[in-house]
Amino acid sequence: MATLRDIIRKKPWMGWILFSGTVVIVFLLGLLASSIIERKSEALIVYTPQVEYGQYEPRNEVWGANFPRQYQSYKQTKDDSFKSKYNGNTMIDMLEDDPRLVVLWSGYGFSKDYNQGRGHAYAVEDIQKTLRTGAPMDGNKSPMPNTCWSCKSPDVPRLMNEVGIAEFYKGSWETKGHEIVNSIGCGDCHDAKTMNLKITRPVLIEAFERMGKNINDATHQEMRSLVCAQCHVEYYFDKKKIEDVPYLTLPWDKGLSVEAMEEYYDEIEFADWIHAVSRAPMLKAQHPGYEIYLTGTHATRGVSCADCHMPYMSEGGQKFTDHHVQSPLNNIANSCQVCHREETEQLIKDVYSHQDKIIENRDKLEELIVRAHVEAKFAWDFGASEEQMKAILMDIRHAQWRWDYAAASHGGSFHSPVETSRVISTGITIAQEGRIKLARLFAELGHNEEIPYPDISTKAKAHEFIGLPVEKLESGKQEFLKKVVPEWLKKAEIRESGYLTKTVNQN
Ligand code: HEC
Ligand code: HEC
Ligand code: HEC
Ligand code: HEC
Repeated sequence: MATLRDIIRKKPWMGWILFSGTVVIVFLLGLLASSIIERKSEALIVYTPQVEYGQYEPRNEVWGANFPRQYQSYKQTKDDSFKSKYNGNTMIDMLEDDPRLVVLWSGYGFSKDYNQGRGHAYAVEDIQKTLRTGAPMDGNKSPMPNTCWSCKSPDVPRLMNEVGIAEFYKGSWETKGHEIVNSIGCGDCHDAKTMNLKITRPVLIEAFERMGKNINDATHQEMRSLVCAQCHVEYYFDKKKIEDVPYLTLPWDKGLSVEAMEEYYDEIEFADWIHAVSRAPMLKAQHPGYEIYLTGTHATRGVSCADCHMPYMSEGGQKFTDHHVQSPLNNIANSCQVCHREETEQLIKDVYSHQDKIIENRDKLEELIVRAHVEAKFAWDFGASEEQMKAILMDIRHAQWRWDYAAASHGGSFHSPVETSRVISTGITIAQEGRIKLARLFAELGHNEEIPYPDISTKAKAHEFIGLPVEKLESGKQEFLKKVVPEWLKKAEIRESGYLTKTVNQN
């Protein structure tokens, strides 16, 4: 094989090409080095504060003046156009999508109205719009307490600081409507002075304390999930702690598994509501997203919520955290492919196949529980006694708790597929045990025919079956949104115009 020297001797122009090529490469490297230095100083300019504000500043746009990239990406949570196979940020009427939910939640607010979650920027608007908060006006109260505002806004830590935690939770939902106007944002997750991640919600700090842990000992990587665990967790309102206060509490004292929380609730005989069809004392799983995530492969490998839902991105040479919190399937390149070499299609296929398989069994469990509620109602109608029904109703409670735990842990089928399947299969077993007890009871009561399954093929039919007058609720809501909400916004504007902010760097 000819050496480089032989080649140049035969073709001298090759030597010149090599020489000038080297010159060009050295020149480009020089340019790159100077651009890196330039960008470093650009980074300094970006983080020079333009505005000074207080620790409890609730307005995202005010923080945004200092951190334009984070603020611009945060604002994209307003986008509601992305839909994946089961999730995404489009508003989907889940009761229309699956009318069995109306029966499962009969007697409880969720049977009125339940939509798939959207971006953080909608949190305040969506809680005002949902039928669950009612149409509180002309002296009528909302059926929900102020506790419901807890996971919606940076106005929450501000107001808790002003009036105290218990006082914040106290009272019906409309009494603090004028106080909570800025949707989830900067002040929920950051310290205003240092910009470090910060736990702003007492509910999580208190839960850690009761488990004998100090949340301040959490590592930086754990904090990248714990800021989310302020809201994406299972909770209940403890009405016994302080009189007249539905005190927001995480049922974690015995552990975070579905069984540990169930045992906690059973021991204190807590029920979110009494089921209107079966009369079972029910539990509503809220959204144990963090708890289920902890049992999955990613969590055990140290991957945080922010790694997938708030990946780093780069703009003009500036690396920053994408504050467009959303389904990672809308951003596979930044969220998954940082760690995985597989093609986008393969990664999406992985997520969908986990979801498909889990939803297949979740659907079966759902039908079993609807049947159990309906059969329990028949048993009451045939004259069953409290004593005869007791164990059956507990089975219904436990089966539906498991179904809801799996269904409401949004993303759980991907975050922890094995645990989610396990929860559903234990639910199926319990639901079947309940229905065997029901069959025996019917035999005792002298009834030996199948109990008919109701026609609940649409949301309207399901609402008719449980006897809920939705049209009335809807027209009341429209009036409330037209009359009351603008008044709240006006009051808030006046209050906020009094907040101190100072422009510090005008150039
Ligand atoms: C202050 C409470 C709060 C905190 C903190 C919070 N969330 Fe949320 N999150 C919500 C609420 C409420 C919604 C539903 C908003 C709606 O539908 O109006 C939501 C919605 C979402 C969605 C659905 C968005 C969509 O486009 O469908 C994702 C994903 C999400 N959050 C992830 C996270 C992650 C990851 C973190 C931590 C980095 C986090 N959240 C922190 C309350 C919170
Ligand atoms: C749901 C929680 C959450 C909210 C809301 C939030 N952030 Fe962040 N923010 C994070 C996380 C997580 C990081 C990554 C921090 C880390 O790893 O040190 C971060 C990082 C940052 C950083 C450090 C630089 C960077 O990009 O990594 C800045 C600055 C910042 N956020 C500004 C803001 C501003 C401004 C808002 C409001 C518009 C905001 N954040 C809202 C969770 C949040
Ligand atoms: C910060 C790194 C990181 C990110 C980001 C990440 N993963 Fe992973 N993923 C891992 C690690 C580590 C494992 C465990 C692999 C092992 O131990 O062999 C894993 C395992 C998996 C598995 C197999 C285990 C299971 O639960 O099925 C799938 C599928 C997967 N990841 C998909 C994804 C998808 C889809 C995304 C984006 C939404 C993603 N990952 C984002 C690091 C990451
Ligand atoms: C390894 C990556 C990964 C990690 C870590 C992760 N998620 Fe997810 N998350 C996903 C994927 C993938 C989905 C499914 C999205 C879909 O179906 O469109 C999802 C779905 C969700 C959803 C429902 C989104 C929607 O569009 O309605 C929420 C809420 C959520 N995750 C919150 C969290 C929280 C909170 C944590 C931490 C406790 C977390 N996630 C950790 C990848 C991740």
